[in-house]
Amino acid sequence: MVSPDAVSATPDHGILYQRIDHANAGDRAGVLPILREYFASIGEPGTADERYTRLYLDNPAQQACTFVATDGATGEVVGITSLFPRPVWVRGQTFLGAIGGDGYVTPRYRRRGIITKLHREALRAMNDRHEAVSFMFGPPEPNNLKALLQAGASQVGHVQRFVRPFTARGFGGARATAFATLGQPLAWALGPRKSTLRLIELGEHPDARVDRVWQATIDALAGRDQVVPVRDAVFYAWRFGRGEQRGYVVLDGDTPVATVALERNGQQAAIVDVTAPPRWMTRAYRAVLDACRGVDSVHVELHVPCTRLQMMLYRLAFLPRARKPFQVQTDRNHPAYDTLVRPDAWRYMWGDGDVFHVL
Ligand SMILES: CC(C)(COP(=O)(O)OP(=O)(O)OC[C@H]1O[C@@H](n2cnc3c(N)ncnc32)[C@H](O)[C@@H]1OP(=O)(O)O)[C@@H](O)C(=O)NCCC(=O)NCCS
Repeated sequence: MVSPDAVSATPDHGILYQRIDHANAGDRAGVLPILREYFASIGEPGTADERYTRLYLDNPAQQACTFVATDGATGEVVGITSLFPRPVWVRGQTFLGAIGGDGYVTPRYRRRGIITKLHREALRAMNDRHEAVSFMFGPPEPNNLKALLQAGASQVGHVQRFVRPFTARGFGGARATAFATLGQPLAWALGPRKSTLRLIELGEHPDARVDRVWQATIDALAGRDQVVPVRDAVFYAWRFGRGEQRGYVVLDGDTPVATVALERNGQQAAIVDVTAPPRWMTRAYRAVLDACRGVDSVHVELHVPCTRLQMMLYRLAFLPRARKPFQVQTDRNHPAYDTLVRPDAWRYMWGDGDVFHVL
C-alpha cells in the first residue's frame, strides 16, 4: 500500500494516481510487488529487487521518479511507470532527461486508460518547475507507444539493430543454413581485421580516462545540433561496472581515444556503447570487432536516421535488422524542444536504456 500523503492523489473511476516517494518504506513496499509481477511476467522472476536497488535507488543522477495507480477500493497498486534520470548533452547544454521504463498494468486492469493517465502524470511532473527532469525518452513496446503518443509524446525516429556475422551461423535463420557449406573460407573472409588499439576493462569506480574521452567527444561535437546522453566516468562505473554489460577504455598506445561497453553471451556479442570523437569512431568499432574475435556474430542497436554511423556500419559489413519506434515526451516550451524532437539529432544506443542484458 502506498502512503496516502505521497504527493497529491488524483482519484479517477476509483483509481488513484500518485507519485511515490522512494524514501518512504510504505511506498517502497507498495511498488515492489508490482515490479516483481512485471518481471515474472516477462520470464525474469527474481530480478525486480536488485533492479529496484540499482536503477531506482542508486542512480547517480537522481532517484527514479515513479508514478503508480492504486485501486481505491483495495489499496492494491495496479499500474506503474518510471522515469530514470539521466543527464543529456543537447547542442552544448546539459539537461536532466530520463529514460522511461517499467510501464506495467496488471492484466485485469488493462484497456481502461491507466498507463495513459500515468504517462500524463509523468508529463505534468516534468513540467513542474521544482522537478529537475525535463524530458523523457526511449524505445517503448508497441502498446505502450500508443499510450505515450496519446499522453503527448512524439515519435522521434527509430532504434535499429544491426548484425555483423563472423561465421555462417552468425547470419542466423535460413541464411545460416544456406551458407553452412562455405564453412572455413567464409569465416576467413568475414573475420575482423587486426586493430592496433587495445581494450582495457574498467571497474566499479569512476575512471578519469572515461571523463577524458567524454570531454574530447563533446569538444568535437561543439556547435552540432545533437542529443547525446552523458557517458562520463560516473555513468560508466554505475552502468557498466558490474553485471553482464562491461565497460572498456580503448587505448591508442597509452592515450584513451574511446570508451565502449560490451555484452557477451555464448557465441554472440553485443556492442552496447561506443563513445568517441567522430574522427575515432570507425577505429573504435574496428577495435571492438577485433576484441570480439571468436564469436559467430556481433550485434549493435543505434538510433536512426544517422547517415554517418549507418554508412560506417555498412562499410564494416554490418547487416540491418529490425527497427522499433523511439519517442520523446516533453513540453513544447522546453528550451531545447526543436532539437529533442529532431529524428536525426539523437545518438542513442542500448547502453543508454534501462535493459541490463540484450542478448
Ligand atoms: C502496455 C500496457 C502498459 C498498457 O496499459 P493499459 O493501461 O492497458 O493501456 P491503456 O488502457 O492506457 O491503453 C492506451 C492505448 O494503448 C493501446 N493499447 C494498449 N494495450 C493494447 C493492446 N493489448 N492491444 C492493442 N492496443 C493496445 C490502445 O491504443 C489503447 O487505447 P484504446 O484503449 O483507446 O484503444 C499493458 O498492456 C502492459 O502492462 N503490458 C505488459 C508490459 C509492457 O509491455 N510494458 C511496456 C513496456 S515499454
